[in-house]
Amino acid sequence: METLSLLIHSRNIYSKGKFIEGSIGVRDDKIVYLGPRKNFSTIETLDASHLHIIPGPIDSQVHFREPGAEYKEDLQTGSKAALRGGITGVFEMPNTNPPTTTAEALTQKLKLAEKRMWVDYAFYVGGTSENFKEVKNIELRDGCPGIKIFVGSSTGTLLLTNPLHIEHILRTTHRTVAFHSEDEDRLKERKKIAIDSKDPISHPVWRDEIVALTSTKKLVELAKKTNRRIHILHVSSEEEVEYLKDKKNLVTVETTPQFLTLWAPDCYKEHGTLVQMNPPIREKRHYDALWRGIQNGTVDVLGSDHAPHTLIEKTKPYPDSPSGMPGVQTLLPLMLDHVNQGRLSLEKLVELVSVNPILKFQIKNRAFITEGADATLTFIDLKEKRKIEEKWLLSRAGWSPFTGKVITGWPKGVLLHGNLAMFEDEVLDFPNGRPLGF
Ligand code: DOR
Repeated sequence: METLSLLIHSRNIYSKGKFIEGSIGVRDDKIVYLGPRKNFSTIETLDASHLHIIPGPIDSQVHFREPGAEYKEDLQTGSKAALRGGITGVFEMPNTNPPTTTAEALTQKLKLAEKRMWVDYAFYVGGTSENFKEVKNIELRDGCPGIKIFVGSSTGTLLLTNPLHIEHILRTTHRTVAFHSEDEDRLKERKKIAIDSKDPISHPVWRDEIVALTSTKKLVELAKKTNRRIHILHVSSEEEVEYLKDKKNLVTVETTPQFLTLWAPDCYKEHGTLVQMNPPIREKRHYDALWRGIQNGTVDVLGSDHAPHTLIEKTKPYPDSPSGMPGVQTLLPLMLDHVNQGRLSLEKLVELVSVNPILKFQIKNRAFITEGADATLTFIDLKEKRKIEEKWLLSRAGWSPFTGKVITGWPKGVLLHGNLAMFEDEVLDFPNGRPLGF
């Protein structure tokens, strides 16, 4: 075999649903050997015997705020945070300023991303009542996973509540149609609850599980009517998990590490508005149901909903405080800790963050660890015990509700397209992210 650029040895390489011992040979940006431990002529060798190697994880929902609110985050800071957290690709959301709702806006974002993204990327196009006829012409390019529709108001101006317009999008587009699913009418009716209480503890009372379920049911009806698969982002409630359990032919489901780690009212007592997000973190029964949804296959993927706001903004009095919290860098550590606590296996986690994003969104330039695949991998130390510290965070927001939390299991390194892009916290190389193709 021709000289390799990198030869990796490990006792735990993820292959076809399990971990095997062996070697991975890399030449340039491709895996050219996967098999029993073997020595080849190589420029570099990495002995990762004590580490687990998994196909590069993807965070299916982040908000990187560029253009328009770079003081909170930009494409460089957000993607560098992702990389240090062991994430190798992100789907970024369209609620920027201007929003990503036109071909020009998408082109601008893709240009902004060139040579500035530390991980691979794709930018959703926002569906609105102005562009619902045109989105079919915008989505079909590399670097766009599909259309994102807010059917309930959240951060930014995007909103599309007209079912005929949603139906049109479902009938005419080809890629993923992803929904922020909260019922706008019920949100408006109940807003007074939040205003009167002035306490974030009422956030899941205002935006209750009926807000989420009512909306999700309407969307599933539209999916049935148009015979089109839909994707529901950040599913938060027991009611939705139960309802969606037997609708997997129509719906793919995302949930967030926050919903799998925190619950109400405790989280609001401890962290106040810092953990205010839409949809909200709910009571323990929802947390339990989401874990059941992970185990029984209702949940397909994990998105951090990385939604940075400054601490000054977040400490405004509720409900003027903006919703959202940073999370792209803590997604893997939190989930690895859950692996160590016995809530899911590492194999299951790999399914959620690496395998299913490729399968469900049909990413064309990513594959599992096989010969011929793109050499994008994450190295995990399952035993490392470490505290999440502010100084480790790279998001411009500079905070996380999880600082101080002691985690077992840590992302140690990232190989991105054959280059060691991060190792032991050090971000090496240069911004080498590529657009994800579908
Ligand atoms: O809490 C949230 N924050 N939920 C969203 O849907 C949007 C996000 C943001 O952009 O701040």
